[in-house]
Amino acid sequence: MKVQRLVVVLFASAAALVPSRRAPPRPNKPTALYNAIKAPFESPHAQQYVVCARRAIDDGAFDTARKTYAYYHERHSLRHKRDAAKMVLRWALLEQRALNATGARAVFKLGARVVHDELRNGDADLRRAAATLFCSWGLAEYRHQHELGSKNARDRATALLRHATTLDESKAPVLKWRMFSATEEKPPTETKKKKKMVPPPRRTPINQLPAEGSADDPFALNVWKRRILERFARFHDDLLSACERDDAAAVEAACKVLETRNGKRCPGRSKDLVGAWTLRWAAGARAAREPLVVRGPGGVDAVPDGPGSPKDPFLDVGAAYECEGLAAGLTPRSDRALALDGARGAPAAFDCTYLDERVWIGRDDRGAAVVFAREP
Ligand SMILES: *[C@@H]1O[C@H](CO)[C@@H](O)[C@H](O)[C@H]1NC(C)=O
Repeated sequence: MKVQRLVVVLFASAAALVPSRRAPPRPNKPTALYNAIKAPFESPHAQQYVVCARRAIDDGAFDTARKTYAYYHERHSLRHKRDAAKMVLRWALLEQRALNATGARAVFKLGARVVHDELRNGDADLRRAAATLFCSWGLAEYRHQHELGSKNARDRATALLRHATTLDESKAPVLKWRMFSATEEKPPTETKKKKKMVPPPRRTPINQLPAEGSADDPFALNVWKRRILERFARFHDDLLSACERDDAAAVEAACKVLETRNGKRCPGRSKDLVGAWTLRWAAGARAAREPLVVRGPGGVDAVPDGPGSPKDPFLDVGAAYECEGLAAGLTPRSDRALALDGARGAPAAFDCTYLDERVWIGRDDRGAAVVFAREP
């Protein structure tokens, strides 16, 4: 009873950080909410901060989520290092989603400071959490090198990845990716004087990119690409809003629109599967937004773009990849077929029929659609 009261009080104080636009969380069923995050936090109050931040992110209130993470860091990072390392990672991912690469780097540095003193005394859990942090930092340094204006992004990334590998051997496969393993970068040849296209950041919804015609318009040299992305963004919006309305006919129609445009030969083995998703539709009905984080080789939760980045097919048939959230693991069975180990709320096996940056569609053995949407 006492614990329950405490939970209620903490919940109320964490919820106070979210603007009152949303109804306050029902304090009588906190465990259902924690199940939905399934993050391996040690202390219940860390989970409450995450619930709070996730709601804010769902509402597009990034600043509220940022403040929630910052507040946790200020209050609790000294006493709960492992939770603090995991929390800082979420914060850094949020800044990346908010196109704030310098902010993400600053947050990673905060995280490094949190774990620094205690890494030597060999707590395996903390080492693993720290390794994930350094690994994500390394990938972020590489992925956002243009925004960060860094000249030696590959070296910085490689150093961070090496450090992650010394903390946790399971991060080693990432260092073997061609972009990090090549011993020397080719010097730029004189003939290639053309203005380089900076590829627009992947995973960023088109409506959050700089406006057409603005100075930093990433599509200045390729308006056609912007049109295509806008078109697909509309298809995504149609699908996700149909899920939200629980409109089965509209979901089916929107799935078909995307499925006929599937451009991947091996969607079930694609690197685009890696990362954080939420389940939006399953078994013919709207699904609670349960998260599913798919980790690639080495436990990575993101695969950067760019020259030398790994190509599809990325995942191996028959290999089990670690997941968090509504399933414990994901195993590609063929180029298209996927198995979700220990899945709750989603079918244990389905064919991947469409996949891109924002949406992942599958069909179970009765042809019913399964829809996931990308999360930060
Ligand atoms: C970028 O992230 C940092 C760290 O969270 C934050 O202090 C800053 O306000 C963010 N900047 C913008 C423009 O959102």
